[in-house]
Amino acid sequence: MQLTHPIFKILSGIAAEKGLEIYVIGGYVRDLILRRPSKDIDIVVLGSGIELAETAAKQLGDLTVSVFKNFGTAMFRYKGVEIEFVGARKESYHLDSRKPIVEEGTIDDDQKRRDFTINALAISLNQENYGTLVDPFGGLQDLEDGILKTPLDPIITFSDDPLRMMRAVRFASQLNFTIEPVTFESIIANRDRLKIVSKERIMDEFNKIMASPKPSVGLKLLEQSGLLRVFFPELSALKGVEHVDGIGHKDNFYHTLTVVDSVSRVSDNLWLRWAALLHDIAKPVTKKFIPGQGWTFYGHNHVGERMVGRLFNRLKLPQNEKMKYVQKLVGLHMRPIVLSEDIVTDSAVRRLLFDAGDDIDDLMTLAEADITSKNEEKVRRFLANFQIVRQKLKEVEEKDAIRNFQPPISGEEIMETFQLPPCKAIGDIKNAIKEAILDGIIGNNPTEAREYMFQVATELGIQKEGE
Ligand code: CTP
Repeated sequence: MQLTHPIFKILSGIAAEKGLEIYVIGGYVRDLILRRPSKDIDIVVLGSGIELAETAAKQLGDLTVSVFKNFGTAMFRYKGVEIEFVGARKESYHLDSRKPIVEEGTIDDDQKRRDFTINALAISLNQENYGTLVDPFGGLQDLEDGILKTPLDPIITFSDDPLRMMRAVRFASQLNFTIEPVTFESIIANRDRLKIVSKERIMDEFNKIMASPKPSVGLKLLEQSGLLRVFFPELSALKGVEHVDGIGHKDNFYHTLTVVDSVSRVSDNLWLRWAALLHDIAKPVTKKFIPGQGWTFYGHNHVGERMVGRLFNRLKLPQNEKMKYVQKLVGLHMRPIVLSEDIVTDSAVRRLLFDAGDDIDDLMTLAEADITSKNEEKVRRFLANFQIVRQKLKEVEEKDAIRNFQPPISGEEIMETFQLPPCKAIGDIKNAIKEAILDGIIGNNPTEAREYMFQVATELGIQKEGE
């Protein structure tokens, strides 16, 4: 096995000198074989990981070592890579475990307590067999076959850390691997144990699924295994088709997956993917069958916008501008379609630009992805109309610069001109100017705005000072 990073030779020297057994293990080995870019390097030693880290750091010229005494691990950065050291253990290996793990074990003990056979591969750094793959559970074969399987009975592996059920789905989605049937059955049987795992850890894995090349792979597995219902019932609720008088609606879960994949093909913006995931989240709660009209989901965009805030809070997702961005796109997601169904007027385009601001391109991407009808003629017509909307957006923006709308007349200027104290009339005048610009009555410039300001003031019975 080709080990290029200089740390490996250094550790091999220490192993010989001190009579230690040292291996590189886990994700680094997996990614090396898969020829994926690797991140951190995990080192296992039969003995103390902390002592080995300190010895290596000294040899390399006194690097700073971070020691996690409770976990018996230590790490330092060397030549751009984080290198983590741990002593081989008999019990489950994971940093987030609450109970400190100290019991020493052999390399085999350590490997069998890891999550999947493909993550349990080790490469020897010992001189007698430097570079040899240590593969007691057929991990190499599973890597070749694209299989996720636990080294031990999955019941043991998953009860050591129930987050591993999410990790199985995450690796399946990232690598496009299959979860071996016995392992998958065990996830179904143990899914409720995910409840004891923190939302932050669950969301770390979930976001890796969302960031994977085709998120629907993981999202489908989450649904099929029942894991999704445990931490994200609102998304599960999108699944299914109801019929009344022989009329059904589309399955909003599978529709949502199509939209997520579709935006993922053109963008790796995680939050745009989230907006796609949540764009119809309020459909189940707004659904109504109206005789003569069929299924309706009135207001699902606005109800959805409010649900985003609650969901982000519960799922411990960021409560900042990222959440606001998702809310905005969910709230606006139908606007481009509604607009394209009608004759596209300049003022409708200006209003859309004003409401979407700099997120207009992402909104258009989402709205276009949202057209998933099976009726090809309908899709063709919509997409053609979208081209018109995009063209209009460009023209109107070039002319009126609405995207980052700044009022051309400030409140201070209005107060000064009419010698008014702060009062409601100031807001009214400002608003009237904005509306006139959006409606195309006046252009977006201070000269026309000033003229219009006097007109509005007169209508409101306000006189210019001195008149
Ligand atoms: N591991 C485990 N159980 C967990 C987490 C991690 O057994 N719940 C083990 C696996 O052997 C894994 C290694 O610890 O390969 C490192 O874990 P981590 O850094 O979380 O993941 P990687 O496999 O390196 O993958 P990635 O870097 O893509 O997160």
